[in-house]
Amino acid sequence: MKIDLSFTLNGSPINTSVAVDRRLVDLLRDELDLTGTKIGCEEGECGACTVLVDGQAVNSCLFPAPEVDGKHVITIEGLGESDNRLSELQQAFVDQGGIQCGFCSPGMILSARALLNENPNPSQDEIREALGGNLCRCTGYVQIVDSIQTAAARENSDD
Ligand code: FES
Ligand code: FES
Repeated sequence: MKIDLSFTLNGSPINTSVAVDRRLVDLLRDELDLTGTKIGCEEGECGACTVLVDGQAVNSCLFPAPEVDGKHVITIEGLGESDNRLSELQQAFVDQGGIQCGFCSPGMILSARALLNENPNPSQDEIREALGGNLCRCTGYVQIVDSIQTAAARENSDD
């Protein structure tokens, strides 16, 4: 059975219909062609599929697509600037070596975005806690934490 669904995706309105048991990650990747959101464990353990729903980081492999009705969804494709430049957060990951193979990066960056939206100046411990649900198989955690602290400093200096 399908139901109608209206939501905002990366700032643009989406009107579609989905099967009631469709996962958000499948709607994004398979029907809306946004493959920046990755699929890893499919069990809520790795964070590769993290997106923002109304500003909260969620595992889209566990999130029912019908539940985004009326909400705002942000994926990695929606984080950059309007002139195609990377966001400050993305650029900080590049500059600090926070990206190795890149598989975890979309989820890491969106979890970091959710953190920085709530806490613009997090400590290393707060960053590590916020990334507790995001695994990096390249073990680049030191650089990832550095990336987020760099992004925070740059964003704060812009204010
Ligand atoms: S694929 Fe969703 S948490 Fe791992
Ligand atoms: S950069 Fe490879 S999994 Fe994190």
